Amino acid sequence: MTKDYFLDMDNNKKYTQALKTKIAKLKREKKAVIIAHNYERPEVQQVADILGDSLELSRAVTKVNAKVVVFCGVHFMAETASILNPNKKILLPVKEAGCPMADMITLVKLKQLKAKYPGVPVVCYVNSSAQVKAESDVCCTSSNALEVVNSLSDGEVIFIPDKNLGSYIQSKLKNKQIVLWEGFCPTHIRVSEEEIMQAKKKYPQAKFIAHPECPQRLLQHADYIGSTSGMMRYIKESKDKEFIIGTESGMIYRLEQENPGKKFYSPSEHFICADMKLTTLGWIAYSLENMVYEVKVPEQTRKKARKSLDRMLAVLPKK
Ligand code: 13P
Ligand code: SF4
Repeated sequence: MTKDYFLDMDNNKKYTQALKTKIAKLKREKKAVIIAHNYERPEVQQVADILGDSLELSRAVTKVNAKVVVFCGVHFMAETASILNPNKKILLPVKEAGCPMADMITLVKLKQLKAKYPGVPVVCYVNSSAQVKAESDVCCTSSNALEVVNSLSDGEVIFIPDKNLGSYIQSKLKNKQIVLWEGFCPTHIRVSEEEIMQAKKKYPQAKFIAHPECPQRLLQHADYIGSTSGMMRYIKESKDKEFIIGTESGMIYRLEQENPGKKFYSPSEHFICADMKLTTLGWIAYSLENMVYEVKVPEQTRKKARKSLDRMLAVLPKK
């Protein structure tokens, strides 16, 4: 591995440009597309063909013609893309880029939970492993969690692994009894209520918009709650000019690009997902050049996980 793959970390403009040129060339040669989650670094967003939230990216991979997809995000996202597109080569540039919340529930723990609540359907947040998806009844993302839970006829529903997203759904769906799991997103949970109050005081005109992975102590102050794509839509349509962004700070770069004239503030320096920030231009170039690291799911697990994802996609209005 040559040193130049990592020079972009120095934020050196000359090398950043050189890496971008290299990535564009490799992308053509390998007939690849690059897709990136809204939380990725600005320079990674700049080389991406498609940006989006978890759900948009899963669906986008199915629609692209390319056989090779470089997925700039975390492991469960690339795995989801691979489950939906077994004939495409899905590459995760940094193999260590994971999601701590997804690791908070395992197949063994899920089986134990199901044994405690026999017959109760399991809704599984897409931030989970393929094995956990395979053992669940239906998946959801933050943009369709309410619709998915509501689509079930059962009064009682197990929701894994995010207790904050689960509690938010419970607050909206009074006719359901939701069994929660003790999982959480470390990026959203470490922000304090005080930080939100201080930001509101500093920017009194700003609307506070928050991701449902935030705990209730933050959500109670939100003017809008939604997934990263929900936030994009809300801000585009809003007449307001200033916004405090209650989610990972990578969002702010995309919001600034697509909403000139509007101002965005992060209320906390803790809103950084270390795993999302692992992907750099250097790793993308390395990934394309060496066709690594391919994410694949054993066929038996893939088929079962696919059922949970298909069931989720059937709930969605066709876009
Ligand atoms: P969305 O992009 O679906 O809003 O999810 C946020 C997230 O934390 C992904 O890991
Ligand atoms: Fe996981 Fe939270 Fe990072 Fe999303 S922001 S990948 S939920 S740790």
